[in-house]
Amino acid sequence: MFETLTAPEADKIIRLMALFAADPRPEKIDLGVGVYRNSQGQTPIMAAVKEAERQIWNAQQSKSYISLAGDKAYLEAVEDLLFTTRGAKAAIATPGGTGALRQCFEALKYLRAGLTVWLPEPTWPNHASILHYLGLQVQTYRFRDEATGGLDHAGMMADLAQVAEGDAVVIHGCCHNPTGIEPSAQVWRDIALTLAKAKALPVIDMAYLGFGNGIEADLTGLRLIAAECPELLVGFSASKSFGLYRDRVGAVLAQCAGPETQTQMQGLLTWLNRQNYAFPPDHGARVVQVILDDPDLRAMWETELTTMRAEINANRQGFADALRAHQMATLADQIAAQRGMFSLLGLSVEQVRRLRENSAIYIVEDSRANLAAMTPMSSRIVAQAISALAKEDQSA
Ligand code: LMR
Repeated sequence: MFETLTAPEADKIIRLMALFAADPRPEKIDLGVGVYRNSQGQTPIMAAVKEAERQIWNAQQSKSYISLAGDKAYLEAVEDLLFTTRGAKAAIATPGGTGALRQCFEALKYLRAGLTVWLPEPTWPNHASILHYLGLQVQTYRFRDEATGGLDHAGMMADLAQVAEGDAVVIHGCCHNPTGIEPSAQVWRDIALTLAKAKALPVIDMAYLGFGNGIEADLTGLRLIAAECPELLVGFSASKSFGLYRDRVGAVLAQCAGPETQTQMQGLLTWLNRQNYAFPPDHGARVVQVILDDPDLRAMWETELTTMRAEINANRQGFADALRAHQMATLADQIAAQRGMFSLLGLSVEQVRRLRENSAIYIVEDSRANLAAMTPMSSRIVAQAISALAKEDQSA
């Protein structure tokens, strides 16, 4: 039976992880998958998480099921973290941010037949992959201006204005993956008004909260959109913001127009949990809830998140300085102005391959580099290697 099987190709991030793991060179540098690493190259467990786990270990008396939708206290804590008011919302806990997006996309199939889902160009590869897997129609809207490396504001607004009523539009809530482009508050306002005018359904992917300019600042877009659009879906991930990657902690929150649609949406999302994995995992979600609901643990978490953000931004500045030292001021300025884990380095697939093969530097083939895994040493090595690539290409 199995001899007829052809495995689907893994996406470019997963392929790169396998290549990196197989590389025996000790000097190899991993700037691929989006994982934060400190200057010692470690991804430590946050102290707030350790303390919450200790408390849970002491207090928890049962591992029996909680509820198909997930723990209510966790879902309310996430709602209070993201939104300024409670209001009519449906919510489910999910395994990680990808689980949340998968449930959002599945829910779309029940909203309107033939609906189109709009993705920014470029975007995280798994968005399109899951949508195609589910048989949903996909279109792209312009986001990055190739010429400047910044936001294509006019192109984005023109494309979003074309969205048909009821179509879904995926928005990166902050720290756009892979570009690092962060819309200003004024641009977020334009986006919110354009989506509302088109009567589109925003699907906000919120995976890097606190990694850009701080928790409140990183929620600017979500909150402006939530104020303008009566209905929206949020796919929340705690992987990065709480460092809970492998514990798979996520949630879907659906802002609904009123209590009746809230009841129906809650029923749909809960039923989707049952279809896909039944009861969502609880341990990591409980860790998040304990942290958010305890003022001391919350303060501890916010301090640790602030430290991570400061390090990532220092990595950006350090890398930008290293690029300037090699006369790459334009790229340096872009990188210094961008936010979150990622930036595109503007290299071709072929150049990315040479970087990997000749210098053991691993970035994704679209030239996305994970700046949250850089160190002062690796930023100098990468800047030097990119400069050498450009020189080789000029003399060829
Ligand atoms: C990434 O973009 O590298 C992260 O979101 C991890 C993943 O699952 O791809």
